[in-house]
Amino acid sequence: MEENQSQAARAALHPTIFVIFGITGDLAARKLIPALLSLYAKKMLPQRFAIIGFSRRPFSREEFRELIRTHMNVKPGQFKEEDIKHFLDHMSYEQGIFGDRAGYVRLSERITDIDRRWGQCSNKLFHLSVPPSLYEGILNNLAASGLTEPCADDTGWTRVLIEKPFGRDLDTAQSLDKLLAKLFKEKQIFRIDHYLAKESLQNIIAFRFSNSLFEPIWRREFIDKVHVKIFEQGDISGRGDSYDPIGALKDVGQNHVLMMLATVCMDKPKSFVAEAIRKERAAVLGKLKAASGKSLKECTIRGQYIGYTNEENVPKDSQTETYFRIKSLVNSKRWKGVPFYLESGKALSESKTEIDVYFKSDKKAPTSSADPARAEESQNILTFRIQPDEGIKIKFFVKTPGLEFNVEPKTLKFKYSEQATPGWVIMPNDYERLIHDAFVGDQTLFASTEEIMASWKFIEAVIKSWKNVPLTRYEKGAREVL
Ligand code: BG6
Repeated sequence: MEENQSQAARAALHPTIFVIFGITGDLAARKLIPALLSLYAKKMLPQRFAIIGFSRRPFSREEFRELIRTHMNVKPGQFKEEDIKHFLDHMSYEQGIFGDRAGYVRLSERITDIDRRWGQCSNKLFHLSVPPSLYEGILNNLAASGLTEPCADDTGWTRVLIEKPFGRDLDTAQSLDKLLAKLFKEKQIFRIDHYLAKESLQNIIAFRFSNSLFEPIWRREFIDKVHVKIFEQGDISGRGDSYDPIGALKDVGQNHVLMMLATVCMDKPKSFVAEAIRKERAAVLGKLKAASGKSLKECTIRGQYIGYTNEENVPKDSQTETYFRIKSLVNSKRWKGVPFYLESGKALSESKTEIDVYFKSDKKAPTSSADPARAEESQNILTFRIQPDEGIKIKFFVKTPGLEFNVEPKTLKFKYSEQATPGWVIMPNDYERLIHDAFVGDQTLFASTEEIMASWKFIEAVIKSWKNVPLTRYEKGAREVL
């Protein structure tokens, strides 16, 4: 922690150039620019910093400032006009074709110019906010123009931020990894999965390992099943061209859902530093298998909302899933036999991301029932609510007051939004956190190559098993997909 703080202080002092490839895109608009502006307003960026946007379209200086102003999407009173203006003064634009050397030569000259003006070799952060098919061209051109070469390890470093999806499958993930390993050391590579940066997901680590009440029973002898879910009310809203070739499993399953699973069932790391935490997450993912059974439906469902094939840029005969539910098992001493249900879908009745941990109930407990279909009724359930309404709740049983001995369920709740202390109510933005951590070189909330490869192996096995699984159509706004 102390080391991180001093690293942060150093990074805050050392000049840094942040290059965004794909500055005109959706991610830059929704996440990157608002996060950078907010970090700037909080004085968490180095005093000397520059942001260079790189993209295909030509812009005059004024047009580019206008584009960034739109990206900022500032609500009235959110930032001081003076901060916005000064932030814009730190930004410039380089027009170039992603696969063409000329733009990188100009980018390199622009960066050298800034370094010359500042009189020192700055840190460089390259963010690939573009479709994955462009990664290779960008990385090779960066290398050819000398921009991947750091001046030194501590200052004048070069780091690269890569967005998900990391590859389209195991093969392409491995070749991307090979290319990155040729150009960078592991400590320079920051593979983004923004779910890892969600405050309420990080809280699972704090909660699990700071409360001795739970850790001893965090195992197969006491836990009946775990349900990891990302439900979204929204449909694919205009993303047909990028979504249809991927589908729900690769869009959020291979990354966000598996990172949630890894966080909730990893073993206690030797220490709470990036290397140790990433090692434990990877170990769990390496042991993950899809469950097999007589009834396929019990093990896996893949669904598509009705109307999906009418979305723009979606083929009329698309078989792409917008929903999945997979029963999986973690083949370890701690978890052998415990089913982990992984579920996510678009166009469902509500948006909620949570993890439910169901505890086994005592067969002789007053609440227990002989009917297996009613097993859940007598179980304690611990729910980590990742979003919205971030918090934790526990279902437990108490005696109903009265002369008879009756027992009923109640809930203990902790909600961030109900805390009186300022700072608890507004969740820190995930991209602010990621950008900040990339500045200070903390890789805890970024995926390691081992985690990515293990998750692809699991996903590929699931996709193979899906050959025999027909698509289930569901109505938009469905509560359940069966
Ligand atoms: C993205 C997916 O990675 O995560 C989207 O591509 C999904 O399809 C989004 O909607 C969910 O993220 P969040 O932070 O809005 O829950």
